[in-house]
Amino acid sequence: MLDTGWFCFVEMVQIVSRSNTLVILFVSFVICALLYLINKAFWSLQNYNNYDYVMQRAPSLKKDLEDAEARVAHLEQKVTVLESQIPKKYPDVKFLNYKRKKKILVTGGAGFVGSHLVDKLMLNGHEVVVADNFFTGRKQNVEHWIGHQNFELLHHDIVNPLYIEVDQIYHLASPASPPHYMENPVKTLKTNTIGTINMLGLAKRVNATILIASTSEVYGDPEVHPQSEMYWGHVNPIGPRACYDEGKRVAETLTYSYVKMEHVQVRVARIFNTYGPRMHMNDGRVVSNFILQALQGIDLTIYGSGGQTRSFQYVSDLVDGLAALMESNYTLPVNLGNPTEHTIEEFATIIKQLVGGNSKIMHVAAVEDDPQKRKPDITRAKQYLNWEPKVNLTKGLKKTVEYFKQELKLFKSDTNKVDVEL
Ligand SMILES: NC(=O)c1ccc[n+]([C@@H]2O[C@H](COP(=O)([O-])OP(=O)(O)OC[C@H]3O[C@@H](n4cnc5c(N)ncnc54)[C@H](O)[C@@H]3O)[C@@H](O)[C@H]2O)c1
Repeated sequence: MLDTGWFCFVEMVQIVSRSNTLVILFVSFVICALLYLINKAFWSLQNYNNYDYVMQRAPSLKKDLEDAEARVAHLEQKVTVLESQIPKKYPDVKFLNYKRKKKILVTGGAGFVGSHLVDKLMLNGHEVVVADNFFTGRKQNVEHWIGHQNFELLHHDIVNPLYIEVDQIYHLASPASPPHYMENPVKTLKTNTIGTINMLGLAKRVNATILIASTSEVYGDPEVHPQSEMYWGHVNPIGPRACYDEGKRVAETLTYSYVKMEHVQVRVARIFNTYGPRMHMNDGRVVSNFILQALQGIDLTIYGSGGQTRSFQYVSDLVDGLAALMESNYTLPVNLGNPTEHTIEEFATIIKQLVGGNSKIMHVAAVEDDPQKRKPDITRAKQYLNWEPKVNLTKGLKKTVEYFKQELKLFKSDTNKVDVEL
């Protein structure tokens, strides 16, 4: 086999050597092949050197990168500090001289009603301190005031004493909706009893006027309709709502005991159902339930027949009423609510029409101790405070639906559906 190969090669050389052209071609071919091989060897050597170079410099390159990252982090910190120094744009507040400007404590000021009250007091030029444990309240509700020279936010549980100097106290701290106040009935009772004692004690010590946020729930499931402040109520003391209803009743009793014994200046607002932006999405109350269900295209749930009535006031009306009561010299309880009464069925229909969509209205079993009728008699508020609600239901509901739409968008970025607690 080898002999044959060698013989062929020799034959080929002999043939080539007989023709000059073929010799030249053959030599060119050999030179090209050699050049190709040399070139290839040179490039592998070059690449090896580059790789070697990179490997040698790797530790110092890594350090350079780390240094650059540290410098970027440092610059980011500086930007944050500078940003925080840029004056924040706050809503315009009135200027009050030191004689008219009051220092006002709002307990529960990060909650639904409290935050709207804070807005009103701030816009009127007062100094406002909010004390809240954020059980149901949110910083977001008052974030537009954070950093303002007239505003202070304290993370404080009013079951513990609070020592500050103030001229007025709006005492609103308490969970207000059934799922929230039933979550921890003992804590609800402590907030409304021990918490109220602490606030009354503070009012006594600093000689402040204190307004207690009581509730229409003190009337329980009323046998009198509409409910005037003279009605003593019909409350089940051991029912599921008792922690709230009785807690508020004791809060009122404590308030008038401090008047009797300590001559504290008091105001008591019996607040009826209130709705509006910043109310809790999942508070289990009829407004939020119906709006959420309608916005999500699920059926609106009515507990029981739907013939039970409620009257709903828009939050700005309530806040005007609270301020008017504080500034009055009226010390007995005052109902603050909207006397326009609707059945729950009517209410579901109005919301369904406002939101649109294909939700139906369905009925489920009634809830224990659910009051059948609720309508305030507001003669006292009209007479002594010159107050009555102004915002009509459709206008208020439109604003509330808008708010819930925005909230739902936020929630949907996290989950697909907001569960409406049934
Ligand atoms: N919204 C209504 O329809 C309604 C009706 C009747 C009475 N009220 C009364 O009005 C007040 C405000 O109600 P809301 O609807 O704004 O409720 P909300 O739950 O939105 O606000 C209550 C606020 O109190 C705070 N809070 C609760 N326990 C506290 C504690 N131990 N220490 C400090 N802060 C505490 C919560 O974090 C929250 O910010 C409550 O006292 C409620 O009983 C409200």
